[in-house]
Amino acid sequence: MKNRSRPRPAHASKVEMTEVVLPEDTNQYGHAWGGRVMALIDKAAVIAALRHCRINVVTASVDSLTFRAPVRLGHILRLRASVNAAFRTSMEVGVKVLSEDPLTGLQAHCCSAYVTMVALDATGRPTPVPGLVPAERDGRRRRRDARRRRRARLVRR
Ligand SMILES: CC(C)(COP(=O)(O)OP(=O)(O)OC[C@H]1O[C@@H](n2cnc3c(N)ncnc32)[C@H](O)[C@@H]1OP(=O)(O)O)[C@@H](O)C(=O)NCCC(=O)NCCS
Repeated sequence: MKNRSRPRPAHASKVEMTEVVLPEDTNQYGHAWGGRVMALIDKAAVIAALRHCRINVVTASVDSLTFRAPVRLGHILRLRASVNAAFRTSMEVGVKVLSEDPLTGLQAHCCSAYVTMVALDATGRPTPVPGLVPAERDGRRRRRDARRRRRARLVRR
């Protein structure tokens, strides 16, 4: 379809998600389960990819993930995601997770992830996605870095 092949600006894919950490999200130390945070990362990445291509997508891979700081019960999780680069049928989505203390407003960087999403057609086969028009400020650097990471992850594949 014509609309699908037209390159789309980076800002079109932006996602901001906010969640509060509830008791059922936490382990015995009152810290959010890593898997809970990973599920939110996947959800944010899916939404960013869908906003970019407007085609159904699946998660192909997530690059290594390091939890830098725990997220505590009652704290606010903030996830920001956007498409860094669009390839043929795949897209790299960058997701940054911050935790916010609701009483002080202090924020900490919990983790960042690079997620590869692949667009599938109605028969479940990979299908081309629109190109990405890089953001003016740091879009070209993001795309260059994304291409470098893609080469490394396809070698690992
Ligand atoms: C991801 C998937 C569609 C790729 O299918 P495939 O038969 O390997 O298809 P292709 O080799 O044509 O690759 C399609 C695209 O995926 C990319 N890709 C495939 N495996 C990848 C990986 N491990 N990491 C990053 N990108 C990957 C390829 O580079 C290609 O991108 P491009 O067209 O932009 O160059 C297929 O492996 C799949 O369906 N996996 C399961 C996805 C899923 O269910 N996720 C949820 C898990 S619960």
